[in-house]
Amino acid sequence: MFDGGEVRKAYRDHLLKPVVFPEEIVSGEGVHLIGEDGKRYLDLTSGYGVSVLGYRNEFTEKVTEGIKKQVDLLVHNPHYLSYSSPAAELAEKLVEFTPPGLDRLFFTNSASEAVEGAIKVLRKASRGYELFALHGGFHGRTMGAVSLTGITADRYGSGPPLPGVHYLPSPFCERCSLNQTFPACDLACADYLQAVLKNETSGRPAAFFVEPILGDAGVIVPPPGYFERLAEHLGENHIRLAVDETLTGFGRTGSFFACEDSGPRPDCIILGKPLGGGLPLGGFVVSEEIGNQFDNRDFSSTMGGNPVACRAGLETLKVIEKEGLLDRAGETGGFLMDRLKELDDKRIGEVRGRGLLIGVEIVDRQEGAPDDAAAYRLKDELMKRGFLVTIYGASTIRLTPPLILQKDHAEEFVRGLRKSIEMI
Ligand SMILES: Cc1ncc(COP(=O)(O)O)c(C=O)c1O
Repeated sequence: MFDGGEVRKAYRDHLLKPVVFPEEIVSGEGVHLIGEDGKRYLDLTSGYGVSVLGYRNEFTEKVTEGIKKQVDLLVHNPHYLSYSSPAAELAEKLVEFTPPGLDRLFFTNSASEAVEGAIKVLRKASRGYELFALHGGFHGRTMGAVSLTGITADRYGSGPPLPGVHYLPSPFCERCSLNQTFPACDLACADYLQAVLKNETSGRPAAFFVEPILGDAGVIVPPPGYFERLAEHLGENHIRLAVDETLTGFGRTGSFFACEDSGPRPDCIILGKPLGGGLPLGGFVVSEEIGNQFDNRDFSSTMGGNPVACRAGLETLKVIEKEGLLDRAGETGGFLMDRLKELDDKRIGEVRGRGLLIGVEIVDRQEGAPDDAAAYRLKDELMKRGFLVTIYGASTIRLTPPLILQKDHAEEFVRGLRKSIEMI
């Protein structure tokens, strides 16, 4: 093993992309990550939303056991090369949680790759090609996925995106780009689709890709009725709905899928992050009708559906179900949100989210405008005090802790946040 200095040197010399936390994390325990010198950090990121069961605890035991057993049996077997029990078992368990009728799955390595597959399958099924997405929406960074990502910073320098993608304004009521106010706006941002269809398209629509809560835009929760209105327009115009549950799925918002709480039934769900129980695994699920149009050559992924990742994902799902982690995430999330709202500090703008997906907007004291420099100073200050958070959107601290977070951890974080805000 490298020592700390050697790790940093190899990163400097060979690895692209700077680290968010300038610390080597060597292990985890409960909801804490542990640094090289033994310092403990309360993890409010769960590694970009992956480690929903936390680390080395009674919840992860079964997952670790499953991984070890599968490693001893067979490490690699593409799920469409031969029959594979871990892929079959995970698929069968997963469809217990998907909306009725969505029961045909394809496993990939990542969510971005799942988005690529879904684009192809939905285009084929609709015999159209035009795609729709939201300003502020995030769907990954491979070329198709980034073309559906409405965040310029994520597209910068990558050249022309996929042709045929159209955008709608973000359903972000607090800072509405249409300068409207909810509910007087009557959901003008959803109705905008009509104008796009009338003026920008060539009449060959395929699918609309959307996150139920926009995570990378800074945890934007669309207003009540938004998805229902959108679904009306999609239905009238024969546009399929692909809901990206990469961040919001697996109980993060208190329901297994966040789209269960926001209306329309999707034609496709994108899966990722916790799907592989900490190992790389993504996927998409569609209906039998769409799945029937999937041909052998339409999509593949050599490492997709890896048996060890599928086994880890299956054990994770079983724990989520057995331990009632959906309810727990809903309850602890509600508690944390209430405490954050009580903070009443001029540095805090909106506090928004659902379950254990929470955004705390950091603003300047005078104007109440997003203050990204202050948000990054706050992240560093929190880290010094033993809390790990990440920044998204204009200046929002995004909290995605393990679903096993307890109320005393939430209290501890709120105390740390209050003290850290005084320092920025
Ligand atoms: C909503 C959403 N979709 C897609 C992705 C891409 O996932 P991956 O990094 O596994 O490709 C992410 C990752 O952050 C995401 O949050």
